[in-house]
Amino acid sequence: MIKIAVMGYGTIGSGVVQVIETNQESICKKIGEGIEVKYILDLRDFEDDPIQSKVVHDYQTIAQDPEIAIVVESMGGIEPAYTFVKAMLSAGKSVTTSNKALVAAHGAELIATAKEKNVNFMFEASVGGGIPIIRALNSCLTADRIEEISGIVNGTTNYMMTRMAEEGCEFDDVLREAQEKGYAEKDPTADIEGHDAGRKIAILTSLIAGQQVDFEDVHTEGISKITATDILYAKKMDRVIKLLATSRQAGDTYTVMVAPFLLPKDHPLYTVNGVFNAVFVHGNMLGDAMFYGSGAGSLPTASAVVADVVELAKHIGRHIELEWRPEKLEIADYKQQTLRFFVRTGADADAIAQAFGSVTYIDVPEAEGEKGFLTGEMTEEAYEKKAEALGDVRQMIRYS
Ligand code: HSE
Repeated sequence: MIKIAVMGYGTIGSGVVQVIETNQESICKKIGEGIEVKYILDLRDFEDDPIQSKVVHDYQTIAQDPEIAIVVESMGGIEPAYTFVKAMLSAGKSVTTSNKALVAAHGAELIATAKEKNVNFMFEASVGGGIPIIRALNSCLTADRIEEISGIVNGTTNYMMTRMAEEGCEFDDVLREAQEKGYAEKDPTADIEGHDAGRKIAILTSLIAGQQVDFEDVHTEGISKITATDILYAKKMDRVIKLLATSRQAGDTYTVMVAPFLLPKDHPLYTVNGVFNAVFVHGNMLGDAMFYGSGAGSLPTASAVVADVVELAKHIGRHIELEWRPEKLEIADYKQQTLRFFVRTGADADAIAQAFGSVTYIDVPEAEGEKGFLTGEMTEEAYEKKAEALGDVRQMIRYS
């Protein structure tokens, strides 16, 4: 019998218990023996819940119990999650976590601790919720050099962009709706300003590069400045605006960024709508692959956590090699990448021609007193200089 502990009985932790209870029989067959949740660590008590008999309040109870082989961390945040996870690995227990903040900040170190103790640290649910992208990168795509990984990795903002495109409504209205539906947090900053997606693309890039990418280095722009007028322009161009997290090979490093992009109909991420996530991968041998599905929520995320538990159970006493060296990768300067840019300005055609040369105008009659246009290809650095020369730039969205 494999005995496990769950640290944090919130949305994900309670989902983990539910997944194990619901699919107990098939999970046990896959592991080859029984599985039991022995402890639930939480600050709270759950008097009306049958799990109360398993609730403990001190993480040392778990760390010091030799019967516990696997620990699930589903508390979120860096502390005390980091201290608790480190203690579990140091005590010779394998750990799986859904906590992207923890993985982005301490992934390399926790993998090294796991190796030292001949256990494993897994984090499938930290990116893309229920979508199997981490194991795909670590197992199925190891024959490739990954040249690009780009995704819609934040369900809240994708829901909001989808609603704005469908209804033509303003950002604040759709944010309120997302909060009422329980998708967006009361403080939505991490989602709408792209920080959540930034952590996720930092994790994915660390895995494809095999070394640490600091999410603080990732240039991040959110969706809070997108308006209903931008959506009108996007429709006129037959495009959608999506918050993309992208990582593209640039020599021996990667250009990594999070920002809204205007995607064409033939882009693989064009049809990813609502709270769904998708990750597009281009490998030098594989060509293209796409991973699509439920990127958040209790049961999809818990499903990925429990899949890690099964994998950990199958590898007790054996560390699975995973390349994520702690030396920091210097990512490429995003201002050197070449793109086209969609611009809205109050300036006149002469000033536009003087700053940008020849451009393509997008005519949206509802957008009175301004012009919208598409630039030719140029670096971000060149764009910034031209935009400064033009002045009165009301919006810029990258055109993929
Ligand atoms: N806030 C995240 C999202 C949750 O909306 O995708 C999953 O990481």
